[in-house]
Amino acid sequence: MNRLHAPASVEPAVIGFSAKVGLAGLARRLHGQAPDYLAPPELAFWQAVPSAKRRLEYAGGRLAAKLAVHALRRWQGQAPRPLAELPVLPLPGGEPRVRLPDGSEYALSLSHAAGLACAASFLPAWRLGIDLISQGRAPPHDEAWCHSTESRYSVSDRAISWAVKEATVKTLGKGMGPVFREIRCWRDAQHRWVSLPTQLMDLRKRFRYTLFQSSPYFICIASVQMETI
Ligand SMILES: CC(C)(COP(=O)(O)OP(=O)(O)OC[C@H]1O[C@@H](n2cnc3c(N)ncnc32)[C@H](O)[C@@H]1OP(=O)(O)O)[C@@H](O)C(=O)NCCC(=O)NCCS
Repeated sequence: MNRLHAPASVEPAVIGFSAKVGLAGLARRLHGQAPDYLAPPELAFWQAVPSAKRRLEYAGGRLAAKLAVHALRRWQGQAPRPLAELPVLPLPGGEPRVRLPDGSEYALSLSHAAGLACAASFLPAWRLGIDLISQGRAPPHDEAWCHSTESRYSVSDRAISWAVKEATVKTLGKGMGPVFREIRCWRDAQHRWVSLPTQLMDLRKRFRYTLFQSSPYFICIASVQMETI
């Protein structure tokens, strides 16, 4: 479990918690059985998914999300709750959220890729988007989602650009809409730069990106302070 810190100039402040779950280990633990940490609506979804791979990704993503929320609640001094009582359900646009009967609510971002699931739960003053991608696997180069200049990138630069796109749209609570293609990450000799489309002009200077190289993955976290969205 990791704390996520704001890019503060003086002292770092905690803005959320993240968790990772290895899917091979989880598969061994579950032996194909239904995960006992799922709430009834999550379990109903899990049981209806025909693909074993998707069921495992869903189970891993839910576990990472619940562990992140559990850590955030503990840090806030809240009483612990069983993971099955922290249902991670989608908002209408697909963004995951934990809503509890006492009115408390936990915003989340989650991602799964070959063999790993990760999630971040964050404080209401922030928006975060997390994306996990395999370093060596080129993402689809589809004209609908990728700018023509991206075809000249190396495989790992294309993977990073894709992770930046996904982290950005998740931060906005959106899916792969029209802005996706216009979000790009590129680099010169010393730095990586992110270029956002004109629709996001007002936010350009406020987005922060953190890229972790956690072999064999890249993990990108996009963050923005809530009042700036
Ligand atoms: C959000 C999106 C970019 C993520 O891409 P992905 O390839 O599925 O990759 P990841 O594994 O990194 O992320 C999946 C998680 O993103 C989250 N997510 C889905 N929609 C989201 C949204 N609008 N905002 C924030 N997060 C979202 C979900 O928690 C999902 O995991 P889950 O289904 O297990 O709960 C993509 O799923 C999307 O655009 N979804 C909305 C519309 C859609 O389904 N379009 C079809 C695209 S092919």
